[in-house]
Amino acid sequence: MTAVNPEYVSRPPLVVIEHLYKSYRRGNQRVPVLEDISLDIAEGEFLALMGPSGSGKTTLLNLIAGLDHPDSGVLTVGGVDLTQLSEGQLAAWRARHVGFIFQFYQLIPVLTAFENVELPLLLTPLSRRERREHVEVALKLVGLEDRSHHYPSQLSGGQQQRVAIARALVTDPTLISADEPTGDLDRTSAREVLDLLCRLNGEFGKTIILVTHDPEAASRAPRLIRLIKGNLIMDERNNAAGCRSPREPESSP
Ligand SMILES: Nc1ncnc2c1ncn2[C@@H]1O[C@H](COP(=O)(O)OP(=O)(O)O)[C@@H](O)[C@H]1O
Ligand SMILES: [Mg+2]
Repeated sequence: MTAVNPEYVSRPPLVVIEHLYKSYRRGNQRVPVLEDISLDIAEGEFLALMGPSGSGKTTLLNLIAGLDHPDSGVLTVGGVDLTQLSEGQLAAWRARHVGFIFQFYQLIPVLTAFENVELPLLLTPLSRRERREHVEVALKLVGLEDRSHHYPSQLSGGQQQRVAIARALVTDPTLISADEPTGDLDRTSAREVLDLLCRLNGEFGKTIILVTHDPEAASRAPRLIRLIKGNLIMDERNNAAGCRSPREPESSP
């Protein structure tokens, strides 16, 4: 992982979304879920996505993360037109470019913390030794190097989510998709998770999309967008966000 200069303003956006539509079929009728969404996300941005339950947050996040196809519209990530990829191509693209963090951690219960974090690396050409080194770095980053042989059931919710964060970052993805990652955690654990997301963004330049119901969590992100009933109704910058790049002061001329 390399640190990046947050001067991303002049670079082309990482995510380009134009007039994006998505609906689901219910019986023989189509239920619109996202309607005419247009949105750019720069590389290195940390964006919070809020909105009432059912407003389409997960649907939008999953489209950007290549888990689903839109009905119509432009959707490119890192210059790749995701609408043109087959299921297999999308899966390969996700494995390389996206790290996933979910509300309920989605760890495999019969695997240790180490083995859970190693899992996405099994899809790469890395040797066993290289995999071990990567897993150790990731577990250290989330402060769990001494828990690597624990199973998920032997860890607290906050620790399990930190293992999930290590799993999300171990492949060094460009984009991190975090869908309500603090939704099941107590305040202290939630703050630890948000601190980690801030570090991944500030120190390692990861682009992060955080879906959350929690105003405190959203207030950490320098950009907040809000969806209501599949429409993007607000997109604002929060210059006072509690999670700015620690490198920012040094890098200004
Ligand atoms: N796979 C699906 N099939 C049918 N309807 C779905 C599916 N996924 C989501 N929906 C519907 O789309 C709407 C938006 O869902 P979602 O994106 O999960 O919202 P949010 O994450 O904001 O709660 C909801 O009405 C939901 O019922
Ligand atoms: Mg959701």
